[in-house]
Amino acid sequence: MVTRVATVAFEGIEARAVDVQVQIIPGSVQFGVVGLPDKAVAESRERVRGALIASGLALPAKRITVNLAPADLPKEGSHYDLPIALGVMAAIGALPADALAGYCVLGELALDGSITAVNGVLPAAMAAHARGLGLICPAATGPEAAWAGGDMDVLAPRSLIQLANHFKGSQVMARPVPAIAAPAGPMPDLADIKGQEGAKRALEIAAAGGHNLLMSGPPGAGKSMLAARLPSILPPLSPRELLDVSMIQSVAGALKDGALSNRRPFRQPHHSASMAALVGGGVNARPGEVSLAHGGVLFLDELPEFNPQTLDSLRQPMETGSVMIARANHRVTYPARFQLVAAMNPCRCGQALEPGYACRRGPNERCMAQYGARISGPLLDRIDLRIEVAAVTAADLILPPPSEGSAQAALRVGVARALQTARYTARGLPDATTNATCPAPVIEAVAAPDAEGAALIRQAAESMRLSARGFHRTLRVARTLADLDGEAEVRRIHLAEALSYRARGERAAAAA
Ligand SMILES: Nc1ncnc2c1ncn2[C@@H]1O[C@H](COP(=O)(O)OP(=O)(O)OP(=O)(O)O)[C@@H](O)[C@H]1O
Ligand SMILES: [Mg+2]
Repeated sequence: MVTRVATVAFEGIEARAVDVQVQIIPGSVQFGVVGLPDKAVAESRERVRGALIASGLALPAKRITVNLAPADLPKEGSHYDLPIALGVMAAIGALPADALAGYCVLGELALDGSITAVNGVLPAAMAAHARGLGLICPAATGPEAAWAGGDMDVLAPRSLIQLANHFKGSQVMARPVPAIAAPAGPMPDLADIKGQEGAKRALEIAAAGGHNLLMSGPPGAGKSMLAARLPSILPPLSPRELLDVSMIQSVAGALKDGALSNRRPFRQPHHSASMAALVGGGVNARPGEVSLAHGGVLFLDELPEFNPQTLDSLRQPMETGSVMIARANHRVTYPARFQLVAAMNPCRCGQALEPGYACRRGPNERCMAQYGARISGPLLDRIDLRIEVAAVTAADLILPPPSEGSAQAALRVGVARALQTARYTARGLPDATTNATCPAPVIEAVAAPDAEGAALIRQAAESMRLSARGFHRTLRVARTLADLDGEAEVRRIHLAEALSYRARGERAAAAA
């Protein structure tokens, strides 16, 4: 007879249904796993054997075959331990035969019979819910699984014995409750920054419309400080976004104690990051920084110090909002709709734009050109807001702190975001929550400028030689500026400001 237990295999953040089939037949004593298992899955035999013995169950002296179907889907990870163990337990009569019928199962076993946490419980729970099944998962991930649906049956046992007792009815387990992570202390506040009104304005625009931002300035001007304060003015994740973002974190193993967080992700990988770390992949497919920043911000400090090829690998996800990683035998796709914020010095000495400063390595222009050349034109073309952050003077620093902080800016950002969400939902585009993510044909319609504005952008497109992307991106920023002003129509003044943010970058590019 064959015992079947439902489990999942992960492809990106999608959980595909996998059937664990256990057959025990007379023959030479053997325990084999087939069905394209990787090393971790093949080793699960030893963990299952140890955990069953520790739980007081001896394996029968027979031939045990475990098949993971469909056989052509690669199986990675350690979460197959629990379904295999439960399949064996049901086959030898240690569990009631029909107990596992309504469940999808995943979890890793320790040799002492306890069940340890695995990645990907949230997407597995969502998939199980969609298939009308309950879920059996490790105790530590119970709060995560409970998010999939209030009506869903979730069992989160600590050990094999606890689960067996539950099915026997001698110790019934309670359903875990969905948990939300407590905010990890207050965020740094914009009020800490003195002066820099222009940069703060650009930060607010970037937050309001989800635009990419590049800050360039001398060392110590406060660029890293400004970027660190962006999360404090971003609106919290909507319930829908919360699940999307948490699915990626779940697959990456980044959820602490199974609790979800409604703060927008803010990822700041070091400039030594490899391509696999940034876009994902590696020996075991894992989401990269671009996917972990989905729905939030990817902050690249010291942009020209990144490997130029690594930087160019961002171009495709920035355009499509997802990243596809081709592997030896299959492909995986992860969502990667992030907002890029970057900071850089204008040249290696860092002072090229300071009045009266002469770079040591030759004329300032050449010093800037050499440093700036590490960033490709197409990447720069994707950055809507490019600003120069000048050093603050001592006179600014001894002023009292500004009266306005993150709370006021966050309020304006929230209002502008609400306008955008309402606009795109009304047009049947629930995925486009910001001006930055709305499709190009729609932005042409919703950001159509008035007559004066149209004349300005026509003239600017010629004189600045705007690319088609540059044209649409200018419209997007102008739309955000109008939203911040609470205006229905995009006017000349909005376009002029939007163009000014682009022009600064064109000037730097021309120097390069
Ligand atoms: N506008 C400001 N108001 C108050 N303090 C500031 C301001 N600008 C800079 N500082 C101080 O200078 C320090 C350095 O700032 P920060 O690290 O953000 O500079 P940076 O522009 O990122 O420099 P680098 O190019 O070297 O990375 C801050 O920790 C802060 O103490
Ligand atoms: Mg810095």
